[in-house]
Amino acid sequence: MAVDILLGLQWGDEGKGKIVDYLAGKYNVVARFQGGPNAGHTLEFDGIKIVLHQVPSGIFHSSIKNVIGNGVVLDPITLYKKEAKNLLEHGIDITQNLYISKRTQIIVPSHRMLDKAYEASKGENKIGTTAKGIGPAYQDKIGRTGIRVGDILMPDFKKKYEELKAKHKTILDFYEFDYSGLEEEETEFFEAIDYLKNFKLISTEYFINEAIKKGDSILAEGAQGSLLDIDYGTYPYVTSSNTTVAGACTGLGIAPKNIGNVIGIFKAYCTRVGSGPFPTELKDKTGEELQVAGNEFGSTTGRPRRCGWIDLPALKYTIMLSGVTELWMMKADVLNDFEEIKACTSYKVDGEETGELPFELNEGVKPIYDTLKGWNTSLEGINNLDTAPAELKEYIKYLEEKLEVPISAISVGPDRTETILRETVLA
Ligand code: GDP
Ligand code: IMO
Ligand code: MG
Repeated sequence: MAVDILLGLQWGDEGKGKIVDYLAGKYNVVARFQGGPNAGHTLEFDGIKIVLHQVPSGIFHSSIKNVIGNGVVLDPITLYKKEAKNLLEHGIDITQNLYISKRTQIIVPSHRMLDKAYEASKGENKIGTTAKGIGPAYQDKIGRTGIRVGDILMPDFKKKYEELKAKHKTILDFYEFDYSGLEEEETEFFEAIDYLKNFKLISTEYFINEAIKKGDSILAEGAQGSLLDIDYGTYPYVTSSNTTVAGACTGLGIAPKNIGNVIGIFKAYCTRVGSGPFPTELKDKTGEELQVAGNEFGSTTGRPRRCGWIDLPALKYTIMLSGVTELWMMKADVLNDFEEIKACTSYKVDGEETGELPFELNEGVKPIYDTLKGWNTSLEGINNLDTAPAELKEYIKYLEEKLEVPISAISVGPDRTETILRETVLA
């Protein structure tokens, strides 16, 4: 069976965790293909709220096989000390149904230090990374100096680690970064490496392709958002992986012909955490209202998320890049108290209007807006679009016309149950 791919279409935190968990029952396998502990995917159901960083969001379904693919950069300490412990409190032993690729790159403690050192050296131009070591770990991958999960089973693992650490120390010395805490973190790291040996460490590309052949249904869970893609995002204010559809091919070993539905999810407005351009950002009272209503604080770092109106040229761009086949609109309830909703339809750049995302998204790029009527009422308890306020239906119709892709579902609250499904949903 073909592999469905779920992607965030904005700057991350669109609600991917909720939807993967919601849809997981339809799938035999849920797989992460890029990113690492920079992700924070929130799941809410039966009064439980949990944030996953690297563990796929299918973990609460015992029938599902969860996979961490080769495209991920894995922090063993986060996996062991945070995620495994947290999930065990909810009765889930992740070693039972989590498969990890031997080709997955490992984040070592000095990667996190390098992340901080690079950021500090950038001063005002800092990216605002999550400081989880993502960029440095991908640098080592591309520089062919990284260490991989399969290496932990080899007799020369310690030697490889020491070589990498020595290289990192030289760079940290250059940046005059104090790495006196490294030894303590190293103790935790080697405990976590021992724990990692309890998992099924395999060639996940064979596992995934055998599952495809057998007719199993597979969902690939994107992390971050398409506008943070290393190639197509707002470079250099991006993450270090391909967050668009191609990332799933390289990050899991899926041939393009095996891609099925591409589910693109987006907030009914827009947010961004960290630095970088954001044309529709509202630095006023309306922006603050969105932040409060949406509880827009980062799931990984707790930082406040910047808020603004929906950006249709940016969404059209990310839909185009990934061949999105259906859309899911998230957090509609956050707009409940707004008399008016705005949607950016194009930009004015040097006096010229354009519907394309400019190469340089600087201060000179001015959004042009349509104004729509808000529904100004609570969406609580609504689980059928027929009973939804006319203005919400109008907003959906408007977006479908502009984006030329059907909206299959609307999320109206963080809980699994707070979801309005339409007829166009996945068969
Ligand atoms: P992810 O990184 O894409 O998985 O998203 P996050 O979990 O980082 O952030 C999304 C936040 O919005 C989480 O706190 C969710 O619980 C919450 N959320 C998801 N869907 C909805 C929704 O429809 N309405 C509201 N109000 N919150 C939602
Ligand atoms: P999920 O999967 C939102 C942002 C950081 C920073 C930039 C680079 O929860 O949607 P990095 O640590 O990756 O080098 O940081 O990317 N960023 C995210 N923003 N959601 C995420 O993940 C993010 N992961 C990274 O804030 O601007
Ligand atoms: Mg998140």
